Amino acid sequence: MSLLIKNISCLVQTEEVPQTWVAGKDMAKISNIKDAFLKIDDGLISDFGEMKDLNLQIPPEEIIDASDRFVFPSFCDSHTHLVYAGSREKEFVDKIKGLSYEEIARRGGGILNSSALLHKTSENELFNQAMARVNEIISLGTGAVEIKSGYGLSVDDELKMLRVIRRIKESAPLEVKATFLGAHAVPEKYKNSRGEYIDLVINEMIPAVAAEELADYIDVFCDRGFFSIDETEQILMSGLKYGLRAKLHANELGCSGGIQAGVKYNALSVDHLEYTGDAEIKALIGSETMPTLLPGASFFLGLIDPPVRKMIDSGLPVALASDYNPGSSPSGNMKLIMSLGCIKFKMLPEEVINAVTINTAYAMGISETHGSIARGKVANVFITKEIPSYEFIPYAFGSNLIETVILRGKII
Ligand code: NIG
Ligand code: FE
Repeated sequence: MSLLIKNISCLVQTEEVPQTWVAGKDMAKISNIKDAFLKIDDGLISDFGEMKDLNLQIPPEEIIDASDRFVFPSFCDSHTHLVYAGSREKEFVDKIKGLSYEEIARRGGGILNSSALLHKTSENELFNQAMARVNEIISLGTGAVEIKSGYGLSVDDELKMLRVIRRIKESAPLEVKATFLGAHAVPEKYKNSRGEYIDLVINEMIPAVAAEELADYIDVFCDRGFFSIDETEQILMSGLKYGLRAKLHANELGCSGGIQAGVKYNALSVDHLEYTGDAEIKALIGSETMPTLLPGASFFLGLIDPPVRKMIDSGLPVALASDYNPGSSPSGNMKLIMSLGCIKFKMLPEEVINAVTINTAYAMGISETHGSIARGKVANVFITKEIPSYEFIPYAFGSNLIETVILRGKII
């Protein structure tokens, strides 16, 4: 199958030599080609360049004329919890009336509420609900997604969630990575014996998940009121024994030490990071851990913003993901995440483009195959509606500007 996209007003985020990630001052640069073509063969990007250099030996099977339109690499969303049952809009109202995320959690709401709902929902029903969200994010430009477990909180229900993620991997046209998050919250029945729950995660859940090869990564909600550094380290160590690299929830609710723990265990990413100080920035510099910010959650919960400019000025890379989940970010719209990056975090449009493509591809472990327009990479791209500039994408924050989605070389 061959496809040519021609007369592209601007082909965004092109790379002659693919980068692992983009950091510091380089985040403000992106490479684009005006009046461009993009050639796709057998699901991969085979060539791109200026229209004047287009030289076709064999005519392509399909041609799209993208006059006045921009072409972007699909978004990589490196942090979601999109497998869940039902929704939690009642807690949304509680929050409007003044309760905090932590107060709702202490009353048995929050993650435990989703866990009770998930327990009552069959695997098939859970799959159908999650696939509706997957199809929605595909239409919004996402071509790769990381999905976490963590609403099961028992051996059977964690496996149920991870099997649903595997079915999504097998049936959806986008790239999927699975993360085991058994340590998302301590279930009510272990309230006075949390050590027993940690033992269950370590001795039963992790081996069972590994036996079925259900997860690529392991995560812990390492934060005030959830899991301590000591508990986090125990869990990460046992995950590592089974080859599960860490991606950590850290420093969302307080200075938890989670960022340093993530770096110590060579986590692929540490995520949230509202409470990032000088010591945390110092720990991240020179590490292989991608600092990942989730502006949907800080927006929805009204949290403080992470010190993004300071992080970038210190030479760090920054990634932006959606955190799509029913409690703190009920949206997987990565274009909106770009707008929030610009508006809330004062990131430049170029910085947010790097943050939702190359840098999130790194945070999912797929930067060799996804996250930019480069020869040999998977042909996951979207074509916009008629737009005047790439800055228009985060600027027009409420409009859906995505017209055509192409995944693995096929028009969706
Ligand atoms: O990333 N912070 C922890 N976990 C999720 C929230 C999950 C929920 O409230 O259901 C998050 O924000
Ligand atoms: Fe999360």
